[in-house]
Amino acid sequence: MFSFPFSLAIFALAATQSTRADSYNWKNVKIGGGGGFVPGIVFNPSEKASLQGLAYVRTDIGGAYRLNADDSWTPLTDFVSTDNWNMWGVDALATDPVDTGRLYLATGMYTNSWDPSNGHILRSTDKGDTFEVAATLPFKVGGNMPGRGTGERLAIDPNSNNILFFGARSGNGLYKSSDYGSTWTKVSSLPNPGTYIFDPNDTNEYNNDAVGVTFVTFDASSGSSGSATPRIFVGVMSNGTDNVFVSEDSGSTWSGLPGQQHTYFPHKGVISPSEGLLYLSYSDGVGPYDGVLGAVYKYDIASKNFTNITPVSGSNLYFGFGGLAVDIQTPGTIMVAALNSWWPDGQIYRSTDSGATWSPLWSWVSYPTLAKYYSYSDSLAPWLGPNYVDLTLGNKQIGWMMESLVIDPFDSNHLLYGTGATIYGSHDLKNWDSKHNISIASLADGIEETAVQALISPPTGPNLLSGVYDIGGFAHTDLNGVPAASFPNYVSTVDLDFAGNKPTNIVRVGNGGDTDSAQQISISTDSGATWNLDYGASSGVYGGKVAFSADADTVLWRPSTGQGVLRSQYTNSFTSISSLPTDAIFASDKKDNTIFYAASGSSFYISTDTGSTFAKTAGTLANTTTPVRIVVNPNTSGDVWVSTNGGLLHSTDSGATFTKLAGVTQAWSISLGAPASTNGYPAVFAAANIGGVGYFRSDDQGTTWTKLDDAAHGFGAISANVISGDPRVYGRVYIGTNGRGIFYGDRSSGGGTLTVTTAASSTTTRASSTLGTTSTTTRASSASSTTSRASSTTIPSTSSSTTSSAPASTQSAYGQCGGASWSGPTACASGYTCHLYSDYYAQCVPS
Ligand SMILES: *[C@@H]1O[C@H](CO)[C@@H](O)[C@H](O)[C@H]1NC(C)=O
Ligand SMILES: *[C@@H]1O[C@H](CO)[C@@H](O)[C@H](O)[C@H]1NC(C)=O
Ligand SMILES: *[C@@H]1O[C@H](CO)[C@@H](O)[C@H](O)[C@H]1NC(C)=O
Ligand SMILES: *[C@@H]1O[C@H](CO)[C@@H](O)[C@H](O)[C@H]1NC(C)=O
Ligand SMILES: *[C@@H]1O[C@H](CO)[C@@H](O)[C@H](O)[C@H]1NC(C)=O
Ligand SMILES: *[C@@H]1O[C@H](CO)[C@@H](O)[C@H](O)[C@H]1NC(C)=O
Repeated sequence: MFSFPFSLAIFALAATQSTRADSYNWKNVKIGGGGGFVPGIVFNPSEKASLQGLAYVRTDIGGAYRLNADDSWTPLTDFVSTDNWNMWGVDALATDPVDTGRLYLATGMYTNSWDPSNGHILRSTDKGDTFEVAATLPFKVGGNMPGRGTGERLAIDPNSNNILFFGARSGNGLYKSSDYGSTWTKVSSLPNPGTYIFDPNDTNEYNNDAVGVTFVTFDASSGSSGSATPRIFVGVMSNGTDNVFVSEDSGSTWSGLPGQQHTYFPHKGVISPSEGLLYLSYSDGVGPYDGVLGAVYKYDIASKNFTNITPVSGSNLYFGFGGLAVDIQTPGTIMVAALNSWWPDGQIYRSTDSGATWSPLWSWVSYPTLAKYYSYSDSLAPWLGPNYVDLTLGNKQIGWMMESLVIDPFDSNHLLYGTGATIYGSHDLKNWDSKHNISIASLADGIEETAVQALISPPTGPNLLSGVYDIGGFAHTDLNGVPAASFPNYVSTVDLDFAGNKPTNIVRVGNGGDTDSAQQISISTDSGATWNLDYGASSGVYGGKVAFSADADTVLWRPSTGQGVLRSQYTNSFTSISSLPTDAIFASDKKDNTIFYAASGSSFYISTDTGSTFAKTAGTLANTTTPVRIVVNPNTSGDVWVSTNGGLLHSTDSGATFTKLAGVTQAWSISLGAPASTNGYPAVFAAANIGGVGYFRSDDQGTTWTKLDDAAHGFGAISANVISGDPRVYGRVYIGTNGRGIFYGDRSSGGGTLTVTTAASSTTTRASSTLGTTSTTTRASSASSTTSRASSTTIPSTSSSTTSSAPASTQSAYGQCGGASWSGPTACASGYTCHLYSDYYAQCVPS
């Protein structure tokens, strides 16, 4: 049973319009291995599920998942819709050690103005099958903010599970609930709420908020069942001060642990109960991208004594530490992950003697040869392997951004860890100790976390091609099977188009990552199987929107780098189209190679000379200030749909006149798909407000609409999403989300007969009409900020290798040589080159 109160959209029918729920089956288009950062993995300490422990994953922009016995994962938060989109940011997760069905999520995406809503505590009593809002918190929660891989900052008292503590961001400190998360009060006695701010001067608001509390860890053995646990440890991000505190009286009073270090920030605090130890991982960065030094400590709880057990030192220590795991069944066996060993690969260490000695997952034989103490399988996500698109990060296997690392409390052989792109794990972990060689495999099956930017469904070739942030994009030859490889050349693909008369011809635009190819336009002539760079594109110009002329000879491009709308024919250099406003959206006619359409404000434009020049048409886009999409009937030249902030408009005469659809007050992504009957008009799909915000299909050119989303499938922020109908399968629509991958929906059998109640009243608008105001809705503006910023995931997508100040000296081998806020040397010793691995870190590596 589904019981999520406010995801059930209650909407009034518009006077002249009818909508009717249709029955749709929704499934993910399988990419197969995450596709984004996995900041948290948590095992329940008390319940062994059928074949392995009960585990959950939280993500920064795509909600939470639960582990199944066959290693696959089940999404738990697909109810999240545009009304509560920030619930896909999960900053902390707690699974109840007493009543193991209970699960809590601390949700909220950003603590700054990008996210208008405060955070929530979501509560489940059935392991996440259903949730209710236990509480709206009096502050924001930042599931996609810096430091999101620390934790867990939400914890349940193992002796009295009505008690929870939550460590907030932004200096809000520690909060306590005694009623299963329903009400919360501030614990003002915590001496330091975590005051460190990564960049107080950050004008884009992302790095200028305090990460705050990093973890809350109960020491169950300090109490007894039925009473509040006395001893609780709390970590905070604070520089030069105590940053790990303990309470011995269930949270009433707190003191800093004696003898603690003040240089690094605590990321994880994990208790080994039988040893009476608290293990701590530290980094000098907040994570998940930064950090170039760190430490690992153990704290003897009885003797109040710290021991530094950092696995490496000197020049071998060029990273902080993130994920930290304790093998509950084998006291003294612990593991810790380098948070970011950007080169040559991520690193994990294991100790079987409580940190006295360690062994690594790989070591150098001699450059460039590594001894890899593991075998590696990417069979569940082959695109992670040697063809992995992320050129910045090379052919890494182990990973990066490794903040989550856990050993199954019921199976010492079972390891899981999260990276910037996926989850890896092992089922033979004990082989590390017996022969120092384990099997590592991609184990993120079912986690679909991509931020999807573009979808097309051409009439030939694969039914779907996708453009996604961070892992390139895919030609989906099998919607239910993992793609073998991602698109080459660019870390992120942000737009795609096919040529109407030659639909195996496809144009694609990349988003300009640090080591993406110089030319950010690529063309395929074989439906996306292979790609050629378009040398007509200038380096340094990237992102934005593209369109391909019907015969595939001309590309229109409005890059995100601000050059206005550009045109290139026969892959010659791109030149400006001076007759179009710089913010114009556009589309190609799918039949006539000479025709392109464009829109800006309430004006509509047409080109009949293959995009060289545009002229305004007579028709205008009534009460529109912001056109969103132009979609052209693939079979009929001049038959055009335009979605706008004022509604949905249709023209059958190339924009000479427009009909504004009654009852549609705002529309975002739109698409046309296969018609209901042979030679019928295409099905119209719209992400729109039609008596309520949702996803709709019309089989009669917009007279009546069928609502396709339901209480269990909300698809997150609507303005961030892209949709595509399928021209070959009636009823099928693809929805690309900002953090939950791609869904496809098919009509379920018998579900498709529509009840037509009314006809839409239409208004024809011409150039003489007066236009509406410039008001935009709150939803549009708030959610559109997620569009541009929610690319959470693997690496920052903006390139800013501005390490141009005069080098004071030369950096030695493997030393840091750049990255945000780096002020040290940027030149490397002879034989070494400074390589930028992320916005935050560049390192001297062999030339
Ligand atoms: C922030 O700006 C102030 C004033 O320009 C400057 O003094 C300070 O050093 C800056 N802080 C950081 C962390 O860059
Ligand atoms: C912590 O403070 C020290 C001393 O001011 C400074 O050198 C160091 O860079 C700070 N650490 C971070 C991560 O900002
Ligand atoms: C405290 O830890 C240090 C190492 O950091 C160790 O040498 C010492 O013996 C420990 N003392 C006690 C009382 O455990
Ligand atoms: C670990 O085992 C794998 C698979 O058998 C093998 O390829 C690899 O060379 C081994 N590693 C070492 C360092 O022997
Ligand atoms: C356009 O008109 C519709 C219907 O009157 C209205 O609901 C909507 O808010 C208007 N949009 C804009 C952008 O003015
Ligand atoms: C386009 O026309 C073809 C041939 O009649 C038809 O099969 C297809 O469904 C049409 N596509 C759309 C989107 O109407």
